Formats: sequence, structure tokens, C-alpha cells
Amino acid sequence: MTNHILRWGLLSTARINRSLIPPLRASPRHRLVAVASRDPDRAQSYAQAWQIPHAFGSYEAMLASPEIDVVYISLPNSLHAHWTIQALRAGKHVLCEKPLATRVEDVDAIAAAAAETGKQVAEAFMYRHHPQTLKVKALIASGAIGDVRLVRGSFTFTLTDRGNVRVNASLDGGSVWDVGCYPISYARMMIGTEPAEAFGMQFVGPSGVDETFVGTLRFGEDVYAQFDCGFRAPFRMNMEIVGSEGVIVIPRPFKPTAHETIYIGKASDQLEPITIEGPELLYLGEVDDMADAILNGTSPRISLQDSRANVAAMVALLQSAKEGRPIKL
Ligand SMILES: NC(=O)c1ccc[n+]([C@@H]2O[C@H](COP(=O)([O-])OP(=O)(O)OC[C@H]3O[C@@H](n4cnc5c(N)ncnc54)[C@H](OP(=O)(O)O)[C@@H]3O)[C@@H](O)[C@H]2O)c1
Repeated sequence: MTNHILRWGLLSTARINRSLIPPLRASPRHRLVAVASRDPDRAQSYAQAWQIPHAFGSYEAMLASPEIDVVYISLPNSLHAHWTIQALRAGKHVLCEKPLATRVEDVDAIAAAAAETGKQVAEAFMYRHHPQTLKVKALIASGAIGDVRLVRGSFTFTLTDRGNVRVNASLDGGSVWDVGCYPISYARMMIGTEPAEAFGMQFVGPSGVDETFVGTLRFGEDVYAQFDCGFRAPFRMNMEIVGSEGVIVIPRPFKPTAHETIYIGKASDQLEPITIEGPELLYLGEVDDMADAILNGTSPRISLQDSRANVAAMVALLQSAKEGRPIKL
């Protein structure tokens, strides 16, 4: 760390890096210093195209560099836990793309590595840091809609690229890991407890992964979450929170812009708008949250316990769909 500036390295040349690079350049607490690729030529050309000072021809080489403080892991899902642990053991802090892992045991191994090394690690759910999300959470906490009874939401888009990592079973592709993780994470946060039971139904495509998934989580006596996700429907994302005394509708829950509107009312035919201003750069929240944790000693907004519970819910949903029965958590 140089004068309280975090030196970041991108672990892979993934498409999603494009969302992180502008916020890393917008804040004086961050400096993007390196990119690593499995392919040295790709690392070089990526570094040149994005004006990144250092290119590493392997992930190991970047992790061995003393010039890096924080690693952003933007690998396919099946590689998240392994490289998060390698980075922690190399003395780096880690911001890892969602899902943090695809097995609960792997989240526990990440937590053990973080505890051993004293380094920070957080899952990159950017929407969690946006003022819109915090506003919805505050409305619920204030009792604005009474007791939460049902959280319902969707995240779908049409995926036609059959070579995409999202439809690669060996890389833990699938719509639940890719986009279902958002409504599940959202519902758990707004309900404020963890699910007790999961039931899911899925369409498994020729890829061998779930390409459509419809799921239910039961949280308590009369508290549920329901969601659908998939790669075979038009782009849709939305959430609705139903309380004992009202309803909140969030039309853009996961990729909120700088100017958002949510709707709240005593019933669905009495909704009133609330406008919310946010940052121009959606992904600024997650990098600044890392900086607060590393430089100021705060706890990351998304704890490892939170990530663990999200992974546990998805594992149970996928098991339920496979076995055709509800799964207790
Ligand atoms: N938070 C968000 O808004 C958001 C949005 C999109 C994606 N994501 C997450 O980010 C991750 C990456 O998604 P993406 O769509 O950006 O992926 P992508 O463009 O396919 O990139 C994945 C990168 O991983 C590296 N890699 C290492 N082993 C690989 C393998 N066996 N097959 C393919 N690539 C491999 C490659 O980089 P090198 O070859 O250069 O090493 C590749 O560029 C996923 O976990 C996804 O869930 C998050």
C-alpha cells in the first residue's frame, strides 16, 4: 500500500472488468496497476488497450508481485474459491465476483484463509451498495409496509452464445449461479433471516446447466421468497416486497442507475413513487467499500456469513430441482 492508495490487479481479462475499471480510476484511493491472464500475449494486449501499467502472463505471477494490494477475481464461477484462497495466501485483499463460491465448504475455506492471513475478502454484489438498496432496506426496517411476508423477483436475459462460460457445466455455469443469485440475495437481505426450506424447478438445456429456474424459499411460518431466472427469456429484472401493510415495487433492483424510482403503497393500486439519486458509476460502491475495509478497518458490507448463506440457498435450490423434492436448510 502506498500512502493509503490501494494498488489493484485484475485476475483475468474478463468482460466484466470493463465495469470495474472506470470506478477504480474515479477514486483517489485506488490505482489500477496490473492485469493477469492465462495467456501472456492476451495480458499484454489487454494492458495496452486499457492503459494498465503491468501485464502478468499468469495468475501466479501477479499474486507473487509485491506491487499489488487488492486482487479483483473475475474468473468463471468454478474458479472463484480457489483463486480467492490463493490470493489471500499471497497476502492480497480480494474482491471476488459473484457467486463467491459454488459450495458452502469453499466459503468456509475462504473464511479460514481470510482469518489466517488477516486480509479482507468480499463478494462483488454491486447493487448492495447503491442508495436505492439502502433506502428499501431502511423503509422495511422502519415498518413502512409492516412485516415482510413475501419477496418476489426475476432476473432473466436471452443468451445465444453457446460458448459462453454461463452455459459451461464444468465451470459451474447455470442461471441460478449467474443471475438467480441476485433475487435470492435481495430477498434474504430484505427478509433479514435465512431460509429454512428450498424448492426449485428447472429446465436443463443441452449445455447440462439450468437455463430456466423457478424457485421458492420458505423463511418462516408465513414468510416466503419466490423468483425466476434464466437465459431463455427477454431481459427482465424486478423485485416486489409484500408486507402485512403494504407493498414496495423496485423496477431496477440489481443494476440501478444514477436516478431511480421505486414505488410504495398500502396496496398495489395505491403506489406512490420515491425517487433516489445514486452514483454515476454503479460499481464505485463495491470498490469504495473495499477501501473502507482495508484502509479504515470497517467490516465489508457483504460479510462472508452473508455470502455463505446465499451459496447455501442456491445449493439447496439446485438439489431440490434435481431431486424433485423440497430441501431443508
Ligand atoms: N457483478 C456483475 O455485474 C457481473 C456481470 C458479469 C459477470 N459477472 C461475473 O464475473 C465473472 C466473469 O464473467 P464474464 O462474463 O466477465 O466472463 P468472461 O468474459 O468469459 O471472462 C472470464 C475470464 O476468465 C478467464 N478464464 C480462466 N479460466 C477460464 C476458462 N476455463 N474458461 C474461460 N475463461 C477462463 C479468462 O481470462 P484469461 O484467459 O485472460 O485469463 C476469461 O477472460 C463470472 O463469475 C460472472 O458471474 C458479474
